[in-house]
Amino acid sequence: MVEVRLENVVKTFGETVALKGINLNIKHGELFTLLGPSGCGKSTTLRIIAGLDFPDEGSKVYFDKDDVTYMSSSERGAVLVFQNYALWPHMTVFDNVAYGLKLKKLPKEEIRKKVEWALELVKLKGFEDRYPTQLSGGQQQRVAIARALVVEPRILLLDEPLSNLDAKLRLEMRSEIRRIQRELGITVLYVTHDQEEAMAISDRIAVMNVGTVEQVGTPREIYESPKTEFVASFMGKTNVIPAEVVERNGDRVTVEFEGIRLDGLHYTGESDKVVVVIRPERINLAPVENGVSMEGTVDLVEYYGFFVEIVGLFGETRIIARTISDRDIGSLRPTQPVKFYINRDDIIVLPKQNL
Ligand SMILES: Nc1ncnc2c1ncn2[C@@H]1O[C@H](COP(=O)(O)OP(=O)(O)OP(=O)(O)O)[C@@H](O)[C@H]1O
Ligand SMILES: [Mg+2]
Repeated sequence: MVEVRLENVVKTFGETVALKGINLNIKHGELFTLLGPSGCGKSTTLRIIAGLDFPDEGSKVYFDKDDVTYMSSSERGAVLVFQNYALWPHMTVFDNVAYGLKLKKLPKEEIRKKVEWALELVKLKGFEDRYPTQLSGGQQQRVAIARALVVEPRILLLDEPLSNLDAKLRLEMRSEIRRIQRELGITVLYVTHDQEEAMAISDRIAVMNVGTVEQVGTPREIYESPKTEFVASFMGKTNVIPAEVVERNGDRVTVEFEGIRLDGLHYTGESDKVVVVIRPERINLAPVENGVSMEGTVDLVEYYGFFVEIVGLFGETRIIARTISDRDIGSLRPTQPVKFYINRDDIIVLPKQNL
């Protein structure tokens, strides 16, 4: 178990600045996730922490008190599990898992015990003599994890470990990874571009965007209190409405879009060009306490089973409301007038970014 600290980590590949000065602090025994779109620098960060790649001069990577910036993977005690598992096809499950221990020249009996322990941990006891081709995708992934854990690393790094699995297996394996992490109390750094997956398994998440970290927080903090437009729009289906500040009164402002004015909203940013962030589930069809409202027409009513979405049209702007009760929507049909009500505390105003 280890605490990992990144200080001003920069990585350039020729002309490309892949990482623009990353600062991160991953705590002991935490499941920490890097989340972000393709090309934002997740794998590069992971490889640098794993010791498979080295950052530019001036960058620092610490494991606890030790500067490991230019140490090899094995010296620093990190193992990385890749998306494609990279199992050796000509070796049995046992030999795949035992590989790292054999390199260390441990006694045979000790190797057998450790492999047994690791296979039990990932629930693959009895599969020792199979070859990778005789395993399902999920089982192969379990072998890859067993092989990584058997050498008792200080940190386990997982780069999109579930992206080759079908939807159902993905759900199963992500709970498995969480269970194993809790059982061992090991520090795990996880990479995904799937925000739902990140929210489901992480203690904390870092949201990345073109080589920078935009926000670090618990899943709840990231979802409910995004600090930037990018983070707000990346965390699931949400309304991000460009607007303008037209009046200020201390830390409260009035914003306007499509001729609609919303007053008394909290905002202390400098720029008057803003976005108004409202989660669909925070929009009501009946008046609420401390509420603002907006009048438009119904564009669409979409039925999803356990919830219903009403897409309202306000000028050219579409705003999605979500409700779990069919009764709320009554007989709403497209082109009918509709009024959305939102508690001011559920509205986040953020500076407009150039995304
Ligand atoms: N070896 C390399 N040589 C040149 N450019 C690289 C190299 N590795 C990564 N890059 C560039 O660095 C940036 C970050 O890449 P990285 O692989 O870290 O992204 P990622 O967030 O893991 O993306 P994905 O979700 O697609 O895996 C990209 O612009 C990529 O093209
Ligand atoms: Mg990647």
